[in-house]
Amino acid sequence: MSEAVLICVAWPYANSDIHVGNLTGSHLPADIAARYHRMRGRQVLMVSGSDAHGTPITVRADAEKKTPLEVYQHFQKRFLDMFQKTGISYDLFTSTHTENHFDVSQKIFLSLLKNNFLYTDRTQQWYSPTQNRFLPDRYVEGECYICGYKDARSDQCDKCGSLLDPALLINPRSQIDGSRPELRETEHYFLDLAKLQDEVVEFLKTRQSYWRPNVLRQSLGQIEAEGLHGRPITRDLDWGIPVPLEGWNGKCLYVWFEAVIGYLSATIEWAKLNGTKDAWRQWWTDPAARAYYFIGKDNIVFHAINWPAQLIGCRTTFDELMGSPEAAPLTLPYDVPANEFLNLEGQKISGSRNWAVWVLDFLTRYDPDPLRYYLTVAMPESKDTYWDWDEFFKRNNDELVATWGNLANRMLSFAYKHWDGHVPEPGELGENDRELLAAVEAGFETVGNEIEAVRLRSALAEAMRLATEVNKYLDRTAPWFSVKTDKAAAARSVYTALWAIDSLKILFSPFLPFSSERLHRFLGYQQPLFGEPYLQTVQDNLGEHVALRYNPAGESASWQPSRLPAGQQLGNPEPLFRKLEPALAAEERARLGTPRKQS
Ligand code: MF3
Ligand code: ZN
Repeated sequence: MSEAVLICVAWPYANSDIHVGNLTGSHLPADIAARYHRMRGRQVLMVSGSDAHGTPITVRADAEKKTPLEVYQHFQKRFLDMFQKTGISYDLFTSTHTENHFDVSQKIFLSLLKNNFLYTDRTQQWYSPTQNRFLPDRYVEGECYICGYKDARSDQCDKCGSLLDPALLINPRSQIDGSRPELRETEHYFLDLAKLQDEVVEFLKTRQSYWRPNVLRQSLGQIEAEGLHGRPITRDLDWGIPVPLEGWNGKCLYVWFEAVIGYLSATIEWAKLNGTKDAWRQWWTDPAARAYYFIGKDNIVFHAINWPAQLIGCRTTFDELMGSPEAAPLTLPYDVPANEFLNLEGQKISGSRNWAVWVLDFLTRYDPDPLRYYLTVAMPESKDTYWDWDEFFKRNNDELVATWGNLANRMLSFAYKHWDGHVPEPGELGENDRELLAAVEAGFETVGNEIEAVRLRSALAEAMRLATEVNKYLDRTAPWFSVKTDKAAAARSVYTALWAIDSLKILFSPFLPFSSERLHRFLGYQQPLFGEPYLQTVQDNLGEHVALRYNPAGESASWQPSRLPAGQQLGNPEPLFRKLEPALAAEERARLGTPRKQS
């Protein structure tokens, strides 16, 4: 199996802050996987960026009387701040509004055109005579022709839930100035999905044995039921990526067509920034490279059908356009472990109603590892789950603090006090001790396999179960008693427990990187476990953008059992986690649904 692992994360629209649902939906599981694969010594690249185009951005810009560029740059900055504070270790988090992404997207478009997977067709679109432009469907409102609701959006009625044919809307009006738009004919490019159907199905069948059921249902299942039909991939817009052809002024690539290309363009940008311009090919032209796509369930169709179809349709043409002498086809997704939704206190998360826990706000009151812990425990891997404040405090206090944090702190303090700040010399280990070591050692296999298969809840539960085993071992051997009567026996169990804690530190580290890093220092190691995030400003012909990067220099974490040397000098230990006051749950709940006091 190839050692190249590409970790792709859905590109968030840069029109709103990130809340806990977004974090556990994609960024956090991706980061856990990325840290794990890095520890396995694989060539890991974790990429994403701001989705800067599309109506979500322009609607917000119109509402705030800002330019789309200002809107995207504002939120991009806040994303980067949040990722650093929560330890989301992007190798590159960039944006779709870069010269590189424009160029790569246009090359994908031209590759598909050359290979005859694009065709043009005429459609009817609302046009605003007062503004002299076509209006995106979202910008037109009117009366629902199914239920009569007066304020339906032209493509969807919020009252009866029907998807609407915009052309049939009754009494249409422009959301921008209230004027009446008219239907005009317009020409667009379509992706010929019907022609690509057989190859997409063939691809999906090779993934059938291990993909999540929901992802298969919305890809293979849907194609088998309905077949694939051509989809328009251009729009009449000026904010976005221009169609790279003469006579197509005023038309842009559809945001969903180009945003998914971001995974590829970000890899290429990373390679260029790194001074190894062809390095992108190890993730994109080696069929054995594994590309994981961490997304929410609302994005499944775009990642499991459309994006593979785009990649298949490129054949070797894209690689040729990049100037590779031996051009290859592009690598298809290995896994698309889409998550369901995290709801909040019994309701759907809603940013506009402030029914949300905003990550940046949360971090002004709590630490990042408890957040990562709870969001993994409650991760919606196979069904919708919900955030419950009581549960957050309970999990923090009863598991993170009581089972894991106290174990580490108690043993470190004990060794620090009785062995003069050093790891005790164990002498010959007994059967009891060796049993514990074997159980913890086996965790590298069991926890690793679960992460490999993206079953992160179960991986974390297994690590926590092993921490419980260490606690039980200490209950049995009780070194706090034997230290007074048989110091050699006490040294044996303290060494054994510290060894187990040192190993558990690695098993927990993809989930709890901040506290694992601290524990690593308390255990007396000098080299850090993980590398460091940093910001980089990149200048191009579109302007400049700030990117988040990851510097692996000094990184020492490796997915293997402890080699804790007896006699190692320990650091002065401090508690890893804070016990939290459960009564705060009421205060937290009172914030929900009230105007947000932004951090
Ligand atoms: N911006 C989209 C969303 O937030 C996701 C885009 S994922 C990508 O739903 F693949 F298109 F990048
Ligand atoms: Zn309706």
